[in-house]
Amino acid sequence: MYASRLFVAYTESKILFALLLSIPTFLEQSKEVPMQETDVERNLKEIESIDSASHAVSRGIHNAVLGGGEPARKVADALHGTWLGHPLHPALTDFVVGAFAFGSLFNLASGELNGKLARKLIQAGAIMAVPTALAGVTDFSTVPRRAMNTAAVHGSLNSVALVLYLLSLRNGNGRPSGMSKLFSTLGFGAMFVSAWLGGKMTYHYRVGVDKSERPEGPTEWTRVLSDAELTENRPRRIEVEGTAVVLYKRGSRIYAMAAVCAHEGGPLEEGTFLEKGADGVCVECPWHQSVFAMEDGHVVHGPSTYELAAYETRVQDGQIQIRLIERKPVVEQDSRQLVGELVTE
Ligand code: FES
Repeated sequence: MYASRLFVAYTESKILFALLLSIPTFLEQSKEVPMQETDVERNLKEIESIDSASHAVSRGIHNAVLGGGEPARKVADALHGTWLGHPLHPALTDFVVGAFAFGSLFNLASGELNGKLARKLIQAGAIMAVPTALAGVTDFSTVPRRAMNTAAVHGSLNSVALVLYLLSLRNGNGRPSGMSKLFSTLGFGAMFVSAWLGGKMTYHYRVGVDKSERPEGPTEWTRVLSDAELTENRPRRIEVEGTAVVLYKRGSRIYAMAAVCAHEGGPLEEGTFLEKGADGVCVECPWHQSVFAMEDGHVVHGPSTYELAAYETRVQDGQIQIRLIERKPVVEQDSRQLVGELVTE
């Protein structure tokens, strides 16, 4: 009974919160000024002290990860979400936002049960805030400059919200007091603005969005370059059916992979080529050091959480030929299968 009430209330609060979050977006869209920066964003960009401090912190964390070698990179990969094929931070925020928002609403309602529910939810939100913040900080270490200030303010507001919610718990002492209600409401306000900035980072600055090209071909062997024109250990960027491809020769083996990094579009032909154990020949992006396996484009190290298109290669009559390795993401396969089943029903 308690659990079902909790679940229903949790669901309702998430719907309510989603509606609240949509208000600024709706207001902005109603102005019919697409992709225009708001005054808040412009001001954030222009505050130099935030900019230099954010940049120093971001680079410091990134350098610490790179300096920590393979173990540190594995931890960073886990927090970026390379294992998930999707950034981890936005997925975790759902739990925190839902629990805190719901906790705030119940904290304002009267009654002992509501008070207990509020307390449990705020506690759950505070616990989940820890891995969420760690994932966010890891993403911040490689966030592009254009979104750095917004990301810094987003993270700071989240910290303020967490402190306010902890103060709310401390002042509740088992029952929601006036101060507890005040702190949780202020916490909700800080979280609301922060969530709006988080949405801006994704939808406006396109942080965490897959920047790679997704070619559909060539599916047949296609001649791309004379073998004599590709020197060993000297990568070369070519265009195939409108997609940038990096060719790389090591020994007698030729590799071909999409040349645009999925993280922020870095030019992979300018990256560092290296051998990495079972992953074979890899390329490290020159911008934020994502590592991709040349064999099939899989992510060896983040920050990219998206794999790249890769090609089979062969040499015939002195000409390098390539053919796209067809590989459907699992989700796409599942959704296509589902759509197919619905259509045939
Ligand atoms: S552009 Fe960021 S890792 Fe390649």
